[in-house]
Amino acid sequence: MNPFKGLPEATLIEDPSDLEPCRRDESHLRGTLPLALVKPHGPAALRELVRRAKAEGFGLVPRGAGTGKAGGCLPTERTVVVDFSAWPGEARVSPQDLCLRAPVSVLLRDVKAAAEAHGLFYPPDPNSWESCSLGGTLATNAGGPNACKYGMTRHWVLAVEALLEDGELHTFGISSVKANAGPSLGQLLIGSEGIFGFILGATLRLTPLPRERTTLLLPVKRWEDLLDLPGRLCGAGFLPSAFEFFDPAVLAELRAHGPEEARRLPGEALAILEFDERGSTSDAFLEGLLDLLGPVAEGLRVASDVRQREGIWAVRRMTSAFLKERHPKKVSEDIVVPRSRLRDFFAGLDRLGFPAVTYGHLGDGNLHVNLLAAGETDPALLDRQLMDLFRLAIDLGGTLSGEHGIGLAKREAFLALSDPAQIQALRALKRALDPQNIFNPGKVL
Ligand code: MLT
Ligand code: ZN
Repeated sequence: MNPFKGLPEATLIEDPSDLEPCRRDESHLRGTLPLALVKPHGPAALRELVRRAKAEGFGLVPRGAGTGKAGGCLPTERTVVVDFSAWPGEARVSPQDLCLRAPVSVLLRDVKAAAEAHGLFYPPDPNSWESCSLGGTLATNAGGPNACKYGMTRHWVLAVEALLEDGELHTFGISSVKANAGPSLGQLLIGSEGIFGFILGATLRLTPLPRERTTLLLPVKRWEDLLDLPGRLCGAGFLPSAFEFFDPAVLAELRAHGPEEARRLPGEALAILEFDERGSTSDAFLEGLLDLLGPVAEGLRVASDVRQREGIWAVRRMTSAFLKERHPKKVSEDIVVPRSRLRDFFAGLDRLGFPAVTYGHLGDGNLHVNLLAAGETDPALLDRQLMDLFRLAIDLGGTLSGEHGIGLAKREAFLALSDPAQIQALRALKRALDPQNIFNPGKVL
């Protein structure tokens, strides 16, 4: 008998051609054809899905807007995709508690807009912020340019509502920044990519919206001159709310083949810096910054109006998609090193000697190293190149993923390169929380 028929409070999709799109996210991977896709509209659907998954031996794969970069939402063998886009509810702000409660189905852009309507700010801003779901950002602990100052998604989560293997919804955490009654199961779920249970909603911490913001373009003649700047700025008390960069190869591609705004971008390499503290638009602030930066700041330009700022950010935001269009089989990594080790990282990357171009979040050391020729590289060689890249980052005190997560794409490397005690402990937690391995099987661990 069909195990999905008669599911309460749910929309069921079984036609293979309608299932095709959920085999993709924004990684270079493709999942297997799932048994079905279910859009739950209420708790009865989840209760019943969990019961049937256990009884029939199939897995459940959570899906938000499908904008993930590591294959975390792709179906594996004998799985049902649980698409949360129809999960009910809306974002509600509590200005008194400086927090916002929202279901996973709400888009991140609507979460940010709901906060802004009250003069409040929810900082996480992954590149996909206009199209990704809140649920995806919670499951992957999403980052983005603002993480440089404000940290990752997990730093903004006060409470989590989650489906556990008993088929019920549970809440972990409260609407306050202070909650210290034992270890936090809610925080364990953030960034767990759905392997311990599925997040259905969250209470997010908010902060007053910054009232000032200055956006600077910093073109340089020798791109290595950028590499010490994040550390120098932070060491001198300047903490940018974003510090992004394009290396010479990425900048040249953008200039030659990108949109109109990109064609006018100056420099051999280019950084975009943003500051949002009080006083950051003053002349005194800019003078202090110029003093600190010295000759490297020769070409520094202030984005004079909103249009110019938006133009600069539009180019940065489309970089990933632009490179993908030009190099459809590229592999984009997201290693991170402490900002004080950026120069050592690039020296190491040179020594590794394989062709790679880089852009990304220089301010927090999270670099999108892109292997544009991945499609034409022998798969075994490509695997070795990626492992060498990850080892380089780890040896410098960094890690193999700064913001995209492990999913399917980095699972093998994660298992091979992590402290075995960490893997053992995570597997023990997985067995305890999901003894029948129904939640996102085959991912991360
Ligand atoms: C970005 O910062 O553009 C994204 O994280 C995507 C990427 O290029 O990997
Ligand atoms: Zn990024």
